[in-house]
Amino acid sequence: MHHKPLNQLKTISSLDFLKQVYRYQTIDSTNEEAKRLLKRKKLDDYTLLLANEQTSGQGRFKRAWFSPPGGLYFSLVIKKTFSPQGLSLMVGMTIAQAFKKTLNQKVFIKWPNDLISQGEKLAGILIEIVDENIIIGCGINTFSESYIKDVNLPDIVTYHLKDEQRDNLLYVILDHLQKDLKVFEREGFIPFKETWKKHAFCLGKTLMFSSPEGSFMGLVMDITDEGGLVIKKDQDIRVYFSGEISLSEIDGEI
Ligand code: BTN
Repeated sequence: MHHKPLNQLKTISSLDFLKQVYRYQTIDSTNEEAKRLLKRKKLDDYTLLLANEQTSGQGRFKRAWFSPPGGLYFSLVIKKTFSPQGLSLMVGMTIAQAFKKTLNQKVFIKWPNDLISQGEKLAGILIEIVDENIIIGCGINTFSESYIKDVNLPDIVTYHLKDEQRDNLLYVILDHLQKDLKVFEREGFIPFKETWKKHAFCLGKTLMFSSPEGSFMGLVMDITDEGGLVIKKDQDIRVYFSGEISLSEIDGEI
């Protein structure tokens, strides 16, 4: 709407580690398009697919990802030369740091990788593995607030940014992501763990957790070196690698 389409934005052209950049004004889903391209041909390491709008954005747990024009929707395709365990946590941390650096906004991470502001979801990450490739899909709500009112989605928040701010945010995310990925390839999640914990709001809190086996209240004690969530329920301490923390318990606190 009032936005310059992303293909008119300039700064990411200067990121020379990006081997190929595909830009779309509108696409069903950048992750799906990456999968289609991968079926047809080999993609170079560090191929970026970037869209201004998605008509069928995909979220985790097969949810839809609301993707009106003006948001940031991208998929970075890299070669799977390392174990991706903990990768999505690292990517969430990188995006949180980019928000602080470019907009001076503190955003929180809800384990494993949801970015939360004002108690609502600002950005999400969907990582998919296809053969020997990792698709890192990121969606960030930078569209105009009027879209939220239109569709009545109460649980998300958007930062409507000027074109230059959006461009700069994307630039910083990609620039940091490439540097962090180099470290991650060698050392995994461990070097990022302490910084991740600084952005997390769940540690030390008793929260509702939905695990694959059901929902329960538990005390979030820590995360492991691999990015698992350590939860105490009654006297039982367990590590979870899948599941979700419920936001409803903690509205207003973050
Ligand atoms: C989540 O459920 O929190 C993850 C959302 C991930 C959305 C991004 S937008 C770019 C990429 N393409 C998609 O269809 N999904 C991811």
